[in-house]
Amino acid sequence: MVQDRFQRSLRSLRISVTDRCNLRCSYCMPAQDYVWLPRESVLSFEEIRRLVSILAGLGAAKVRLTGGEPLLRRDLSTLVRFLAKVPGISDLALTTNGILLQEQACELRAAGLHRITVSLDTLDPSRFEKLARRGRHAEVIAGIDAARAAGFERLKINSVVVRGFNDDELADLLRFARRKGAEIRFIEYMDVGGANRWSADRVVPGKEIRDRLEHLFGPISPLPVDPAAPAKRFTLPDGTSFGIITSTTAPFCGGCDRARLTADGIWYLCLYAREGTDLRSLLRQGATDETIAGAIRDGWTRRSDRGAEDRFQTRDRGALHSLSELRKDPHLEMHTRGG
Ligand code: GTP
Ligand code: 5AD
Ligand code: SF4
Repeated sequence: MVQDRFQRSLRSLRISVTDRCNLRCSYCMPAQDYVWLPRESVLSFEEIRRLVSILAGLGAAKVRLTGGEPLLRRDLSTLVRFLAKVPGISDLALTTNGILLQEQACELRAAGLHRITVSLDTLDPSRFEKLARRGRHAEVIAGIDAARAAGFERLKINSVVVRGFNDDELADLLRFARRKGAEIRFIEYMDVGGANRWSADRVVPGKEIRDRLEHLFGPISPLPVDPAAPAKRFTLPDGTSFGIITSTTAPFCGGCDRARLTADGIWYLCLYAREGTDLRSLLRQGATDETIAGAIRDGWTRRSDRGAEDRFQTRDRGALHSLSELRKDPHLEMHTRGG
């Protein structure tokens, strides 16, 4: 087990399998047109499998596939089948916008995927279209139903809360999730990568989310804390559980066990990191597993990132990057980083 400078172990991998997306949510992708990663730089399934095996050998046991929109990666279930068989991987999950789940939920389940999280910020189709610049709300809802029908029982729904956009829907979203047998997590709007319209007054602090729900539903009880998990979990008086992710107002870097791999094989130690390690070049130059493991071990041992805490301490906090900076380096984008 490798540990960083704050004794945080490397346990969890977020792997972006494509930077492409079929939505354009403005808190993630600020523009209509993008500089995409060149296709030849995107890792093959075999390359991803090899890196995951090496990382699992160093103690990483959890893998979450992300994007962009991961279901746009052709034949994703083949990658799932590969990763489900890697010794040491005990949790294999996917974060998706849900649109393609109607087509793919069954094959993903059969391939060995354990868990699915669907992003859904509003129950109003016209709001959805305004946010995502695509009118595909009904497909997301159908995707959630398809995931349930395929047997994914530990479904989660992620809702990014943006003041003045969807903060009047907290109770409806929670009831919706309850009806679908899913656990909802309310996420504070974060000043990450592509969120170049972020401003502090659009963040609804987790404390306020909790108070508002308590006012509506009655006393809320906290569930036991997992120090490495972004979400703090709670229950309503009727037993319904939900989560709040306070990355912006109460960051949780102290327990962070996550590393990220972009679709083109750049390995980042933090959601906010400016620089990553180019594992693709190592792979393609013919490096041995030991060499690659050594590069990963060195990187993690030197890790001192606490990106969200650093942002929290920034005075006059505004958007992290301008559109022109994002254009120069697509790796700064949330849809490349993998959320
Ligand atoms: P579980 O394995 O179910 O706990 O998944 P998760 O909550 O780690 O993953 P998910 O993709 O659902 O992430 C939910 C939200 O948590 C993201 O939208 C981010 O806002 C936040 N988040 C995830 N990873 C990180 C991280 O490494 N740092 C910070 N600051 N926030 C993160
Ligand atoms: N703030 C908070 N969450 C965000 N996500 C994307 N951009 C942001 C942001 N600016 C979320 C998506 C998805 C997860 C992977 O990241 O909604 O649920
Ligand atoms: Fe981990 Fe960086 Fe996120 Fe903090 S901001 S929880 S260090 S990835």
